[in-house]
Amino acid sequence: MTGIDDLPVRDELRGKSPYGAPQLDVPVRLNTNENPYPLPEPLVERIAERVREAARNLNRYPDRDAVELRTRLAEYLTDTSGHEVGVANVWAANGSNEVIQQLLQTFGGPGRTAIGFEPSYSMHGLISRGTGTGWISGPRNEDFTIDLAAAEKAIAENQPDVVFITTPNNPTGTAVPPETVLALYEAAQAAKPSMVVVDEAYIEFSHGDSLLPLIEGRPNLVVSRTMSKAFGAAGLRLGYLAAHPAVVDAVQLVRLPYHLSAVTQATALAALEHTATLLGYVEQLKAERDRLVTELLALGYEVTASDANFVQFGRFEDSHETWRKILDRGVLVRDNGVPGRLRVTAGTPEENDAFLDAVRELKKEQST
Ligand SMILES: Cc1ncc(COP(=O)(O)O)c(C=O)c1O
Repeated sequence: MTGIDDLPVRDELRGKSPYGAPQLDVPVRLNTNENPYPLPEPLVERIAERVREAARNLNRYPDRDAVELRTRLAEYLTDTSGHEVGVANVWAANGSNEVIQQLLQTFGGPGRTAIGFEPSYSMHGLISRGTGTGWISGPRNEDFTIDLAAAEKAIAENQPDVVFITTPNNPTGTAVPPETVLALYEAAQAAKPSMVVVDEAYIEFSHGDSLLPLIEGRPNLVVSRTMSKAFGAAGLRLGYLAAHPAVVDAVQLVRLPYHLSAVTQATALAALEHTATLLGYVEQLKAERDRLVTELLALGYEVTASDANFVQFGRFEDSHETWRKILDRGVLVRDNGVPGRLRVTAGTPEENDAFLDAVRELKKEQST
């Protein structure tokens, strides 16, 4: 049978696997860091209204520059960070994955490289490969924090064109202190200069503040965000970035014309009208995240400090076997390939109870 490798695909794609978090039909799905709460009914109604309006104009292309949406996103960022952000600082795309892709198409590409400090979000490496950008895996400490000296050395030696810093980091949950981000930014500027992308997909769940104010006076610093997590709208596919206006102009060189559909723009605008309600769920999820940490520690697991809506825990001799045993009890968590560790997303209190019951049973099984 003809397979991928029988086709004349690019050499760097040969033998590789696509992104593949399993989408299994099990009672409790805590594996992709989604928000467990469906959108509230008044918002569903508002989306229907806005989409109905948009549908009347679907014979036309959408606003190519998504100005109204970017204006509302800029307001949200200003309100939540206390740092004045305007429409010229904001760009939006289909999920922050597309934002990252556009950044790599603009600042990476053939003959260029990007670095991330792993374990981290696997798509940074995968999108790099997809855009022909060489991928460099930078180091982390044993406790999954960034080893600043080693990271600075890796930047100086490799002179990457793009540096990814994920805070809070996925899959570990660890936040990166602003001083470390600033030091890495300086290291990256001294080496090349290069673009530093701070991926803040989970920032709303963090104990600390967004690093957004750092874009001031740093045109090579980009903060990327998403509506997939805190806004509970992973199905919407809306990501965005905040940066110097020159970065927003630059990504428009590679974006496909009319990349953000009128339906997407209408839906995202409706969600932004309900920011206060949606962010109310974030507080509940943070409390549930903290409960998971406490309970897992009490059960004797090793738990990585988390600033996100998920928790990394271990250690397991065979994490994949443990993943399977938890799945056998109807709970899907994530095996990110970090040796001895698994990751669980904070769900509803009932879902988290089901997960805790499952791991409690495993502990009992081990001790008998
Ligand atoms: C660190 C990080 N960045 C970006 C994304 C992608 O989010 P989006 O749904 O906006 O494409 C994820 C999704 O899990 C993530 O973990």
